[in-house]
Amino acid sequence: MSSVNQILIEKQGKVGIVNFQTDKLNVLLHSLRADLYQAIQQLLADAEVESIVLAGSNKAFSAGADIAEFSAGTYLNFPSLHDLVHLISDAAKPVTAAISGTALGGGLELALACHHRAVHAKAHLALPEVHLGLLQGAAGTQLLPRYIGVETALDAILTGKPLKLSALKDSALLDVLTDADVKQAAIEFASALGTQPVHIKHQRIQSTDALNDLLQQKREAAGNKPQHIVQHAIINAVQAAMDLDFEAGFAQEQQLFQQLTSSDISKSLRHAFFAEREAKHIPNLDAATAAKAIERVAVIGAGTMGSGIAICFLQAGYPVTLIENQQVGLDRGLALIAKHFAGQVAKGRLIEETAAAIQANLQTSLEYSALAQVDLAVEAVFEDWDVKTTVLQQMDQHLPAHAVLASNTSTLDLNQLSQQTSRPESVVGLHFFSPAQIMPLLEIVRTDSTDQATLKTALDIGKRLKKTAVVAGVCDGFIGNRMLNAYLRIAGLLIDAGASPYQIDRALENWGMAMGPFRMCDMAGNDIDYMIRKHQLKLNPTKKFSGFADQLFELKRFGQKTQKGWYDYSQGNRRGDVDAEVIALIDAYRAEQGITAKAFSDEEIVARCIYALANEGFRLLEEGIALRQSDIDVVYLAGYGFPRWRGGPMFYAQQTGSDVMTASMQQFAQDPYTDADFWQVPALLAQAAA
Ligand code: NAI
Repeated sequence: MSSVNQILIEKQGKVGIVNFQTDKLNVLLHSLRADLYQAIQQLLADAEVESIVLAGSNKAFSAGADIAEFSAGTYLNFPSLHDLVHLISDAAKPVTAAISGTALGGGLELALACHHRAVHAKAHLALPEVHLGLLQGAAGTQLLPRYIGVETALDAILTGKPLKLSALKDSALLDVLTDADVKQAAIEFASALGTQPVHIKHQRIQSTDALNDLLQQKREAAGNKPQHIVQHAIINAVQAAMDLDFEAGFAQEQQLFQQLTSSDISKSLRHAFFAEREAKHIPNLDAATAAKAIERVAVIGAGTMGSGIAICFLQAGYPVTLIENQQVGLDRGLALIAKHFAGQVAKGRLIEETAAAIQANLQTSLEYSALAQVDLAVEAVFEDWDVKTTVLQQMDQHLPAHAVLASNTSTLDLNQLSQQTSRPESVVGLHFFSPAQIMPLLEIVRTDSTDQATLKTALDIGKRLKKTAVVAGVCDGFIGNRMLNAYLRIAGLLIDAGASPYQIDRALENWGMAMGPFRMCDMAGNDIDYMIRKHQLKLNPTKKFSGFADQLFELKRFGQKTQKGWYDYSQGNRRGDVDAEVIALIDAYRAEQGITAKAFSDEEIVARCIYALANEGFRLLEEGIALRQSDIDVVYLAGYGFPRWRGGPMFYAQQTGSDVMTASMQQFAQDPYTDADFWQVPALLAQAAA
């Protein structure tokens, strides 16, 4: 990353001001650090200047360090943020930070190094490093507790949440809290200061039994899973702030920071962060083509998905027309939407007036003619070729020429569907996940005909709906469900070979998946899973599936909705109880198939299931369905409960090593009950291994 820096030094009376502004929200790149270092030195050497103000831009004091420098190791190059912290905190003249907009991470640490701070009441101050599996690297863990107390500081660092400024107005952090011009307030404050600064770092925090107990409680609450090393490191750094003087505490923080930087946990979390940023950039888009302006939206089909999609658009401020072919469908959808907003009010997330105002933006219709004033229509009608074709043709007939025709289909061939309209270039898939108003993932499905303006519009919509959008090509299941199908198939075949569904779920949940595959099927419905298997078999009759899941379907053990599935829910346990009946059924099934059950280690179960995801991911890359490995990770993190601290299935495979994965796959293929064809090593992986 590079930035264009504007550094302006000015003087007002005896106050010297360093104004700094870059085109990158004052991210503390090396060039900015060097400019700041030099400017501060210049004012320190200027005999006319008695007091210094560091003034960021209106938007940002500083958005923090450049995370890429942590991996590259260049963050310590002179002048590092440490050098700036020392220069400022040891300065012989008082330094006051003027903060408006954001002061995040290293940006806030820069402000903490100053002797004083004037802060705008709406400024956003936070130390969000925990989300990247890191703690502060420039004395944040040592200084923040000195300013606002151990408990509040520790909470802020452990959660990464913004500081509540109004609650801190009497703390040493905020010398001035103002709604007015922060820079002017800082200059006035600095003019009235004496000339002998003493930095708070020289004050020791009183270590008390109560504080030690608090830290111990936090340690116990943090948990002991591998990913919790981050929380423990943070608590240890704050402990050092209590037990040691500033320099020793800072050294301890640095050691912990370096441990975390090189940990797999932080590498994975940083990968996830960059992968999400990258997913927004679509290669080869023509800069001259603009996205279409979307003012009015229609959603067709007011079922589970349609209602959720309508909520998403309403919450993002769009007027929405909900269209159904029967009043009863509309009534059901309206009830779902009303229930959602009532819930938001009950939970205190929306005030009643706002909820009412949002819902006033919703209109309904039983006529497609209502599409005439609409810029974007999303269909979420039954997953049936004839129904979808009819609906898309109605959309084609009634929507204005500039409109975007979007489909939420999850399994139908969108290339072919789009050809049923007179304008396939304006057709795009907007594949929401259930419940649409909650799940962050949105797959934007680009057909062979989707034009750039339509794609750009879909990307804009994703942003406006605050979804994590990933562009995919057309195939059965797109990115996410196609990988899920492979994962479920391999998990099912493991049961044939000898593993129990409960061991498989437990192994994957212990590994970090939010839910094991069979618990997930019970939630989504084993009837749905059955239909998906049949659909896949129609496309590829030789595909190998476990026969056992069909038995559960035939017994109407559909999962949570029938109280029984892979698990038994009849005793009220929402996670389900292990069911001896299912174990007996599996035993009988294996006996019938002449299978002698083999014992599997949890490690092998995890390897088979996670490599199944990555293996299918490599195929998606080879076929050009996914643009990048990292996009596949984003899909899995945002839509499928994959542990973020493992980075995603492709990143995990990469960390494991393509040679290790290839060797394991070759070994899995020897199992007579798995699908040897599936474990054929994809060319991309073989190349990487070679
Ligand atoms: P649903 O059965 O709950 O809703 C479908 C709605 O479409 C019903 O309200 C029905 O009355 C209405 N409808 C049917 N024909 C219509 C027509 N000609 N004109 C207007 N409305 C019509 O189905 P669901 O689950 O909401 O699925 C809808 C679409 O979303 C499907 O394409 C499905 O594959 C897709 N999808 C579903 C997901 C899920 O988890 N349920 C997830 C992602 C996509």
